[in-house]
Amino acid sequence: MKCKKIFLDKIDSTNKWAKEHTDQVFSEDLTIVHADEQTAGKGRFGRHWESPQGENIYATFCFRINAQCLHLISLAQVMTLSIAKILIKLGLQPKIRWPNDILLSNKKVSGVLCEISHTKGLCEVFLGVGINVDTPKEILEKIDQPATCLQKHIIKKYKKGEILDLLEIQFIHDLDLFLAQGFAPFLCEYENLMAYIGEEICCENQGKKWVGICHSLTNDGQLNLYLPNKEIIALQAADVTLRVKK
Ligand code: BTN
Repeated sequence: MKCKKIFLDKIDSTNKWAKEHTDQVFSEDLTIVHADEQTAGKGRFGRHWESPQGENIYATFCFRINAQCLHLISLAQVMTLSIAKILIKLGLQPKIRWPNDILLSNKKVSGVLCEISHTKGLCEVFLGVGINVDTPKEILEKIDQPATCLQKHIIKKYKKGEILDLLEIQFIHDLDLFLAQGFAPFLCEYENLMAYIGEEICCENQGKKWVGICHSLTNDGQLNLYLPNKEIIALQAADVTLRVKK
């Protein structure tokens, strides 16, 4: 797979920029657009992603896929697992909060925003990755949920470029496997790293709310939630929080 990187000093959002420059981002098999600072970083569910200048990763992985987009639902989870695996290689113990969040000591360190456009039978994929590498304390405190950065958990200083290079290698490997075999090869690894299994969680999406026990994954990466009436439902997308017992 041929890969190129485009570096931008300061931009509103790498996902937005990539979607506006399709001629540049689809000239190779994979293009990684990354920036030093984002002025309007986007998170899932329309949230803001804190993106100060400095040692954090703001990157969008862009590629076209000649496939049924239905099958692509779990692509962001493949990227989430790629991130978790490189953090393990750095000596960390990440957990995945389904579907796309990485936690360290129960605090969010990374998130993935997947945007897909459909053009002439092709899917154009924009996988936005935010990783807090070395984030000032006052920025972490501004985030609307407990958040952390890698540097709080490792002694060795890593440059964000080194981490992005590791992620590029890991993701290219994982994407090839996903395109050949779907989510099946990732299922066990993903489930083993999942946070909250067996615990009571709250799942919210588009004004709907479910409370139940975080049970397992379906074969294609959906969340099996065990409801109080003993029914198990599969959720395709949701915002998950741990239910605090009163
Ligand atoms: C989330 O957890 O809500 C997803 C966060 C994704 C943030 C990244 S930073 C690079 C890319 N550009 C954006 O505007 N957002 C994603």
